[in-house]
Amino acid sequence: MSSNTPTARLARTLMLDTESPLHDLEAIIRSRTPLIAVESNEEPQIVTLVRQIAARMELAAFRWTVTEGLQAFDPNEQPAQSVLKSNEVLSYIKNSSKNSMFVLLDFHPYLQDAVHVRHLKDIALSYTKHFSTVVIVGYAVQMPEELKPFTAPFRLPLPTMDELRKIVFDAAAEWGGEHGQREVETTNKAMDLLVRNLVGLTATDARRLATKAINDDGVIAESEMPGVMRAKYELLGRDSPLSFEYETAKFSDIGGMARLRQWLEVRKSFFTDGNQPNLDPPRGMLLLGVQGCGKSLAAKAAAGIFGVPLLRLDFGVLYNKYYGETERNLRKALETAEVMSPCVLWMDEIEKGLAVGDDDDGLSRRVLGALLTWLSERRKTVFVVATANDITRLPPEMVRKGRFDEIFFVDLPSAKNRQNIFEIHLRKRNHLPAKFDLPVLTEASDGFSGSEIEQAIVSAMYTAHAQGRELSQPDLISEIRQTRSLSVVMAEKVNEIREWASGRTVPCD
Ligand SMILES: Nc1ncnc2c1ncn2[C@@H]1O[C@H](COP(=O)(O)OP(=O)(O)OP(=O)(O)O)[C@@H](O)[C@H]1O
Ligand SMILES: [Mg+2]
Repeated sequence: MSSNTPTARLARTLMLDTESPLHDLEAIIRSRTPLIAVESNEEPQIVTLVRQIAARMELAAFRWTVTEGLQAFDPNEQPAQSVLKSNEVLSYIKNSSKNSMFVLLDFHPYLQDAVHVRHLKDIALSYTKHFSTVVIVGYAVQMPEELKPFTAPFRLPLPTMDELRKIVFDAAAEWGGEHGQREVETTNKAMDLLVRNLVGLTATDARRLATKAINDDGVIAESEMPGVMRAKYELLGRDSPLSFEYETAKFSDIGGMARLRQWLEVRKSFFTDGNQPNLDPPRGMLLLGVQGCGKSLAAKAAAGIFGVPLLRLDFGVLYNKYYGETERNLRKALETAEVMSPCVLWMDEIEKGLAVGDDDDGLSRRVLGALLTWLSERRKTVFVVATANDITRLPPEMVRKGRFDEIFFVDLPSAKNRQNIFEIHLRKRNHLPAKFDLPVLTEASDGFSGSEIEQAIVSAMYTAHAQGRELSQPDLISEIRQTRSLSVVMAEKVNEIREWASGRTVPCD
């Protein structure tokens, strides 16, 4: 297999060990690799690199495109006759007797064709006769299995922070040029944020996003960053099992959880104030607790408070949609999250994804292992919010100290918090809380979860509406009386969770 040929191994080592793309590519060429596959949308940059390397190594260099055929960079080296077709260029290379470099642009569709594949293989096998290197460049280059042993992959390194800063400055200058040398309006902080948010993108994509951010109004403002991050996610996350959650929450949407709120507030500056070299990045929290009491809501509020994107990892999707490729897709999801950092990565109901069973050939155990390793080793600011209801199905390794900064227990709301939840959900539906006797409602809903309180309000509104009335206190009371709350139906289970949580977790109130 290609990934284990000496050439590929060498290429990989070179890619990891050195910084400069020129140096890397030259090293691959000097290692006598007949074929180089470059996946990149930075065509001009690759072509320039090849020209520079050819000049340094004193090789002839050619470029081929389907529209213009084969052209030498040096006019003296121009082929005697036109070499236009894809199979003609391959014959030309095979028969050339001089050390040369050939860059084939947009050649990837031809890699599906058996004749082309055979030609390329012949070129590779007769390498010692012509010493010519073929560089195939495309956005996606899928090398056929037959060619993989002769191919070294090459990737351009992503732009550094300084290069990204230059990209933003260039985009601003370009906008200024088009608008009578007007200056782009911005602040240092907004500039820094924009540059930071472009990390992980290729130069072309970064340029596109920077231009988009500036072009609408000639302003780079902090308030534009959520839009930038969304656009970035669209470029990166298309085929990952992560989803971008557009809806975050404010803490004013949540009744109670004062301690959790305080805990998050203290960590907020890490996300909002830029570089904090003296502080360890917050790693995340695990929220355990009773169903319907606001765990998912709190995950959304964490992203809202920090002002960063919220990405959700759905274990159901991880296991089903990509059947057979679960581990690779987990890796991909975690990589995307790192590129999107700083962000909140929300893993909802982890016990469902990680419960270790005997019936999956150890897959969930391997996924758990990969996740735990990542949780302890990740370097980027990815704040993980994991939630779980069923603590008995949660692997013990997950709750061990050190994986998360804190494990919070989300209990049924106290009387004070229930009152608060009534107020929030009444107001949300345009009812003045003052028109109701809240202490009575609070008392009547003892043992209700936040979700059950919300449901009672929703149902009571339907009843009132059906009778052509405004919502009233008796509607609510009657609805509450009819509800058999989970804490009653599942009293044992709730007690079990509470018992487990005491001593192991911190209450979020
Ligand atoms: N503390 C709360 N304050 C305000 N609303 C709440 C609260 N708890 C729950 N709710 C309401 O109930 C809905 C469901 O709650 P949420 O999904 O956050 O609970 P959960 O703990 O994640 O439940 P599950 O374990 O079933 O996933 C929320 O969208 C919100 O409208
Ligand atoms: Mg939930």
